[in-house]
Amino acid sequence: MVLTEHVIQTHGLTKAYGPHIALDSMDLKVQKGATGLLGPNGAGKSTLIKTLLGLIVASEGEGSVLGYDIRSEGVDIRKRIGYMPEYDCLNPDLTAIHQVTYSGELLGMNPKVATQRAHEVLEYVGLRDQRYREVGTFSTGMAQAAKLATSIIHDPELLIADEPTNGLDSQSRKFMLNTVKQIVEEGGRSLLMASHLMDDVENVCDRIVMLHKGKLIAQGRIEDLKAIDREVEVHAWGGASKLEEHLTDSGLTVRRTGRVLRVIRQDETTYDQIIESADATSCQIRRMHDHEPSLEDLFLVIMERLGYEVKSSKDLLSPSPSARKVDSPGELLP
Ligand SMILES: Nc1ncnc2c1ncn2[C@@H]1O[C@H](COP(=O)(O)OP(=O)(O)O)[C@@H](O)[C@H]1O
Ligand SMILES: [Mg+2]
Repeated sequence: MVLTEHVIQTHGLTKAYGPHIALDSMDLKVQKGATGLLGPNGAGKSTLIKTLLGLIVASEGEGSVLGYDIRSEGVDIRKRIGYMPEYDCLNPDLTAIHQVTYSGELLGMNPKVATQRAHEVLEYVGLRDQRYREVGTFSTGMAQAAKLATSIIHDPELLIADEPTNGLDSQSRKFMLNTVKQIVEEGGRSLLMASHLMDDVENVCDRIVMLHKGKLIAQGRIEDLKAIDREVEVHAWGGASKLEEHLTDSGLTVRRTGRVLRVIRQDETTYDQIIESADATSCQIRRMHDHEPSLEDLFLVIMERLGYEVKSSKDLLSPSPSARKVDSPGELLP
């Protein structure tokens, strides 16, 4: 065991399935708190999680979770963290209370304590009235909640949830996200939540780790990462295309959709430059303000900078990503 300020840390972590590189030399640093593990399907999120839990052996590199070595101390890691897997891991013939108690016993809990805790966590995830029902009769939302209950029975300090909202309707999805958020906020626990849904991550997490095709493309606080995508939104009236031309000629980067221009903010003078260009082209500015990028905007900017040609994040988030790599990715972001 090593002492570290990071709940998860890896260095050069690589996992190959035959010739396929699923994790490509990852240097990961996950701090306390809620971190979203984002990336399109096939990016390597589940492989990374399983490698961190010591369920899959890394091909190269090293890492630690809560200070325990992922290569040699997988058992210690799995005892201390809560893992909510992507796949269906419940026994359909067991009642929820039975299932959750059993998972506690597997973790070494005394059967009496496990039973008591099982009642508590099932209530916590909203399954109080369904405790004695067989899991096989559960809806997807209820089954996901039961999975969450099994993963928190031992009150872990770190919860690793792989696509916890998969297959949920909007109401159960909201409930799941709120429950997970509450788990983290109460008692200063940490969370690593894999998702291909940017909204889910933005809702719960203040940090992200972004993967694409097995590579780490960004990590850090969402707020800090968004700072790389500062744009000024300009609503123009009469001559938006002339204004666009003038701004481009004066060295600014502009994207225009009809009368709305998004100008990359270089420094404080960008505003003045826009006003000057509007004057010069007799274009009227109706509104002008800093644009607050969404995680989706951020993802697109990062992909663009790394040399991937993407039309929209939907390209990347579809089951078979159609993003086309135009040239090799440059430097990894922060
Ligand atoms: N057991 C396996 N054998 C071979 N290839 C695998 C295996 N598991 C995953 N992969 C491949 O590794 C890549 C990453 O998969 P995965 O980690 O499941 O991605 P994600 O969870 O981000 O959707 C995919 O291309 C997938 O097809
Ligand atoms: Mg996955």
